[in-house]
Amino acid sequence: MSQCLICQKDYEPFISLGNMPIANGFLAEEDFDREYFFEMKVGYCDHCHMVQLAEQPSREMMFHENYAFFSSTSTLQTAHFKNFADMLGERFLLGDDPFVVELGSNDGIMLQNLAARNVRHLGVEPSNNVAEVARSKGVRSISEFFDEDLAEHIKAEDGQADAISAANVICHIPYLHSIYAGVQRLLKPTGAFIHEDPYLGDIVEKTSYDQIYDEHVFFFSVASVSYMAEQHAMELFDVEHLPNHGGSMRYYIGHRGARPISDTVTEQRQKEIELGLEEAATFDRVRQNIENSRDELLSLLTKIRAGGERIVGYGATSKSTTITNYCGIGPELVEYISDTTPIKQGKFSPGTHIPVRPYEEFANNPPKYALLFAWNHAKEIMANETAFTASGGKWIVYVPNVGLIDDSV
Ligand code: SAH
Ligand code: TMP
Ligand code: ZN
Repeated sequence: MSQCLICQKDYEPFISLGNMPIANGFLAEEDFDREYFFEMKVGYCDHCHMVQLAEQPSREMMFHENYAFFSSTSTLQTAHFKNFADMLGERFLLGDDPFVVELGSNDGIMLQNLAARNVRHLGVEPSNNVAEVARSKGVRSISEFFDEDLAEHIKAEDGQADAISAANVICHIPYLHSIYAGVQRLLKPTGAFIHEDPYLGDIVEKTSYDQIYDEHVFFFSVASVSYMAEQHAMELFDVEHLPNHGGSMRYYIGHRGARPISDTVTEQRQKEIELGLEEAATFDRVRQNIENSRDELLSLLTKIRAGGERIVGYGATSKSTTITNYCGIGPELVEYISDTTPIKQGKFSPGTHIPVRPYEEFANNPPKYALLFAWNHAKEIMANETAFTASGGKWIVYVPNVGLIDDSV
């Protein structure tokens, strides 16, 4: 039995994905024998509807001076956050001297747009290496973990915020009540707290279980976010389904009664009920789908290797750590993983220790098969890799189903 992080009720995890290392913990050979592992189990609480990790490593093990994820490596995400900044300006920053706080502001991918327009802003970003990049772009950033105390501190220094935004970070934070309590204090009476995160509905529909890794402690839905907001005298007033990161939901939260509630909220909740997101039995089916996906991927890779062909991973994503460790995929199946991020190159993937090499190696000596670990960036990658595909290169994918992209072996 595990205890729900949100409502404290007991629940039974519906799956264990076995021993997992830190998903972003790309490491050097000399550190192999010191690698940290934890048992990764996921459960559904049928009281508050939150799907969650039963155990998570300490935050300092995941977010630090050597944090390997730089948001701006994706040009599509860069455009996405520019659009977001425009939307914020038009919809929520209409008063005098508006103030925006972003949690998990990383390398300034979103706030750089507001800094360029001289909008008063503050980025809260505990991983100092990525925060330094933001500062170099003129984004005001502090290297701290956001929580209730920090919210009070920001309020005292800068006043309340018109908007508090957070992308792909709220789902990382086990002390969610402290975050919501802090937001409740820091937000102006008519302000908006907007957070977007990978969406539970997409994970269930596509069996995209690689969204489950140490950093993602919560898999939100309209049901569970509504529950959280209510606990803190706030309410969900709008939602927006997004294609990013393989399917995300953007939640708009305000003080209770401050804004009209959009029909999208009830419509999306209804879709969730139809999808079974509020029934424990659904998650037994999810477990079965995950196990089948693992068996099929492993047998496809084994068959290709038995035929003597090379397979190279494309994108040393954090998500790939779940796939390689849960399925047992090491260098005997995947020769190396190609990645454009300098600090990952020359290192090894967490747990199963596949070498990570610069993209040039893939371009100069392409394999027959590329295993698309960065499947959520498929559009951008396919547009860049027409030469690989045209010369007979094949793409192996596993979301939503295991197979080859054009289905021809
Ligand atoms: N918003 C960016 C970055 C997401 S990665 C994007 O969508 O691309 C998550 C970021 O949140 C990391 O940079 C991590 O250091 C940061 N983070 C983790 N815990 C945090 C906390 N308690 N408060 C603020 N940021 C946090
Ligand atoms: P993400 O899925 O967590 O955003 O990580 C994407 C990783 O994939 C990151 O390490 C950069 C890498 N990548 C490439 O190597 N080539 C690409 O074309 C893209 C889009 C990403
Ligand atoms: Zn609960």
